[in-house]
Amino acid sequence: MLTRKRFIGAAFASLAATACNRNAATTKIGFIVKQPEEPWFQTEWRFAERAARENNFELIKIGGTDGERVLAGIDNLGARGAQGMIICAPDTRLGAAIQQRATANQLKLMSVDDRLLGADELPIESIPHVGISATQIGRQVGETIAAEAAQRGWALSEIGLLRTTFDNLETARQRTDGARDALIESGLPAARVFDAPMRTSDTEGGFNAANPVLMRQGAIRRWAVVGMNDETVLGAVRATEGAGLGAADVIAVGINGSASAQGEFQKAQPTAFFASILLDARRHGFETTLAMYRWITENVEPPLLTYTDGKVMTRENWETLKAEQAA
Ligand code: GLA
Repeated sequence: MLTRKRFIGAAFASLAATACNRNAATTKIGFIVKQPEEPWFQTEWRFAERAARENNFELIKIGGTDGERVLAGIDNLGARGAQGMIICAPDTRLGAAIQQRATANQLKLMSVDDRLLGADELPIESIPHVGISATQIGRQVGETIAAEAAQRGWALSEIGLLRTTFDNLETARQRTDGARDALIESGLPAARVFDAPMRTSDTEGGFNAANPVLMRQGAIRRWAVVGMNDETVLGAVRATEGAGLGAADVIAVGINGSASAQGEFQKAQPTAFFASILLDARRHGFETTLAMYRWITENVEPPLLTYTDGKVMTRENWETLKAEQAA
């Protein structure tokens, strides 16, 4: 049996151990993403895990595929004693609810990828956000297509632009608007822009949106394809294949440069998926999580707004770019 004195001694020893580990073991950060199965978010999580490993804090990953899961996830983070969270929400209009729930659970809050909106539908400027320079990256998509069309000797006045759109997400709208505008500036007639509004922002969504447009415009046999990310553009590419069009008839450019794009570049025969704009997953995953860690442990507030840029990735350079990003 322990004497009272020895018991107290042991209790103090364990208390001291907890205190020593405080920074290390007790910092917990949640990372909630809207589409956990999408390669972009897996890469983002991988970089976030690296930040957690290198700095010895705990990362709690949560798939927040709808509003209910997001709010339950935030409560769960609170119950587990997390001090902060980073989120890419399934619907940016959940912004006010997310902010309230994070405050109720005493969680510091940052958003990544998709900027949260308040009840007035405007961005909540007080929540630090890391996102892409969406218009600029969209323009890069358009310019890449224009350059490749010139390379092939295509007149932009003769092609169609198939634009899979998802306009209720601001970053998506800016991307597809930027791509369209750059192509129009390069000589594409505005009347040859065909919008394919998507119901969901995934491959199936891109495929289903593209099909009726291709059917209606069956007379057009040369296409440029753009969309908000690799998955949606790949969906549209699969639809062009279904319509009997191949790599020689279509120039499609995605955004993300993640595993879906790299998978296309690895195929023995080129497909219509000509390029992707590689985004900086390291900054979105590693740097956001590290910024949150510093906010919690050193009270250094992250910048309110950070925009990241992208690089054109093709079959020729994808391996080099991939290695550079992983380094
Ligand atoms: C959105 C898209 C993702 C990815 C990120 C990048 O969330 O859905 O595929 O492009 O933006 O910020």
